[in-house]
Amino acid sequence: MKIVALCGSPRQGNTEYYLKEVLQALAAKNHDTLFIPLRNKEINQCNGCYKCVEHKKCVINDDFSAVFTEMIEADCILAGSPVYNGSITPRLKALLDRAGFSARWMKNQMSTTDKKYNWGEMVFSRKLFAPVTVARKTGQTFALAQLALWASVNDFIILGSNYWPVGTAGVSGKVNADEDAEGASIMAHLAENIDFLLNKIHN
Ligand SMILES: Cc1cc2nc3c(=O)[nH]c(=O)nc-3n(C[C@H](O)[C@H](O)[C@H](O)COP(=O)(O)O)c2cc1C
Repeated sequence: MKIVALCGSPRQGNTEYYLKEVLQALAAKNHDTLFIPLRNKEINQCNGCYKCVEHKKCVINDDFSAVFTEMIEADCILAGSPVYNGSITPRLKALLDRAGFSARWMKNQMSTTDKKYNWGEMVFSRKLFAPVTVARKTGQTFALAQLALWASVNDFIILGSNYWPVGTAGVSGKVNADEDAEGASIMAHLAENIDFLLNKIHN
């Protein structure tokens, strides 16, 4: 099964460390893994043009469509973000806004005649989604909730771990996630959960 990790950090830092721990554990279980750092991608914010409703794809010309294709091909998306002022980072938010909206209109029509929305099958229906957030001190759970809310409106199955899947690292900007022993065990269990559920669903 294919697991794609989206990393919302603008640097090669702690979030990347935690995500790679999860990916390495899954690769060891013979899953196909792909790490996508957003730091070197141009992903502009959704401009609210609504052209995806008609065109069935996002019309902004940047790196979005390549990343979106990988998301569509994944069986599980692992999304990680450092906490910036209690929130996920803007580039990851931009990606998720555009991915969610384009995915919705790829398989659904916008009805202007009746006021009922009857959503059908979605592009991301029943894919797995595992959120991870990282902060120096606090805000991880709020940012985690942002990611989980995005997944829950897009018909994903959301995974947790034996504690909230968060890391605590980055005092004074340090890259020191390797010192977070509890975080390491939470990430290891998250990888076990992903492997367990992928096997249940696909075998
Ligand atoms: C602009 C900015 C805002 C931040 N806001 C918070 C915050 O709200 N709470 C917190 O505990 N840490 C905050 N931090 C610290 C980072 O979350 C922390 O250093 C994290 O490990 C960085 O992850 P990365 O190495 O993957 O980029 C902030 C850092 C920056 C640069």
